[in-house]
Amino acid sequence: MISMAAAGEDAARASSAAAAAGGRGRWTLRGMTALVTGGTRGIGRAVVEELAALGAAVHTCSRNEADLRACLAEWDAVSDGTRGAVTGSVCDVSARDQREGLLGDVAARFGGRLDILVNNVGTNFTKAPSPPPSTRRRTTRS
Ligand SMILES: NC(=O)c1ccc[n+]([C@@H]2O[C@H](COP(=O)([O-])OP(=O)(O)OC[C@H]3O[C@@H](n4cnc5c(N)ncnc54)[C@H](OP(=O)(O)O)[C@@H]3O)[C@@H](O)[C@H]2O)c1
Repeated sequence: MISMAAAGEDAARASSAAAAAGGRGRWTLRGMTALVTGGTRGIGRAVVEELAALGAAVHTCSRNEADLRACLAEWDAVSDGTRGAVTGSVCDVSARDQREGLLGDVAARFGGRLDILVNNVGTNFTKAPSPPPSTRRRTTRS
């Protein structure tokens, strides 16, 4: 796994800078640390951006390194001192060794402290609903 956390970045320092600059109204996550799995698209991406906007230091992951790098560059470009910094790791959370690598990256970045976990990666299995009882064929005979 390739860690994309910026070398030498200090999450605590980033959070303190956000705290010093003030948050967004009374709702703030300044000083908090968060891991959001699957943060490059959809719901996960929205959660990353909301947590960062509220001042939390956020780490995220995805399987596609190019997408992850593009997101990190985008988030870095809008960094304004009040937002929490976002870092990321390339990780397929369905693979145990990669999950362990991700947790190693998170522990290193946040100094072993994680306040928020958003376990966003998942899969929906859908199937046709069962027919209502009245339309089921009887299978027993009297
Ligand atoms: N959208 C809905 O209407 C809806 C409804 C009910 C539940 N949900 C649930 O909400 C969650 C997010 O849905 P979404 O629609 O926002 O998904 P999405 O747009 O497909 O985004 C999924 C994100 O997770 C990453 N990802 C996927 N598989 C991964 C894996 N094995 N390891 C690491 N990262 C992975 C993707 O990046 P890479 O592909 O690069 O890895 C991407 O960043 C899912 O758990 C989904 O089941 C969504």
